[in-house]
Amino acid sequence: ASSAMTAADTRNRHVVITAGPTREALDPVRYLSNHSSGKMGYALAAAAHAAGAKVTLISGPVSLATPSGVTRIDVTSALDMHTEAQRLAPTADLFIACAAVADYRAEHVAEHKMKKRGDSETLTLTLVKNPDIVAEVAALAAPKRPFVVGFAAETRDTQDYARDKLTRKGLDMIVANDVSQAGLGFGSDDNAAWLLWRTPEGVESDTQPPQPKSALAETVIQRAFDLLDTSS
Ligand code: CTP
Ligand code: CA
Repeated sequence: ASSAMTAADTRNRHVVITAGPTREALDPVRYLSNHSSGKMGYALAAAAHAAGAKVTLISGPVSLATPSGVTRIDVTSALDMHTEAQRLAPTADLFIACAAVADYRAEHVAEHKMKKRGDSETLTLTLVKNPDIVAEVAALAAPKRPFVVGFAAETRDTQDYARDKLTRKGLDMIVANDVSQAGLGFGSDDNAAWLLWRTPEGVESDTQPPQPKSALAETVIQRAFDLLDTSS
């Protein structure tokens, strides 16, 4: 099916992508977040649009222009992203979770700006776990369940952790990268990756050398569409 793939085949496909960081408020002026630039998710959105799909990007706060032809929905927190993902995933043929979702949020968000306290040298925050957005999408029952691709950014034992995430979250494919490599991953224009995907026979993988995120995005979109074709 892969070689027969044309723009016509993908014209009616809906691809939903989460991208960027989330921000977890502590009070009206402070938040917890991470260094995700959103570049990889935006590159995926552009590549999916170029492949002829209808694309919806659920984006955390980033400073990137919306790729042309892409519908962008802005969100701030993991809970906001979760709400939009739950709403849109059942309408998707392909769901790609590229966002760096904060694993935890503050248990209580202060209504007013927190004051520095004179009587203590430490501050303890209690955090609670955010929902696992991609795992919930992967757990949808057919026919609502899209083909599901996750990402894994690791700083050690990358392949082992990625394989574990593929299984634990019930994903169809995972894109794993080692973010400890200088010049690759977070904030960078380039990325290297291992792609792991499920087949009836087990897990297959290949290695993607360092390349522009736009090139890696094209490869990921094409591989996902090929697998979608062979699975449907
Ligand atoms: N993800 C998600 N919702 C979350 C956390 C993660 O959808 N609350 C998605 C990410 O978008 C990514 C994948 O899950 O596609 C893996 O994210 P990662 O942070 O690597 O996995 P975690 O399960 O959070 O494990 P850890 O942070 O401990 O490595
Ligand atoms: Ca995480």
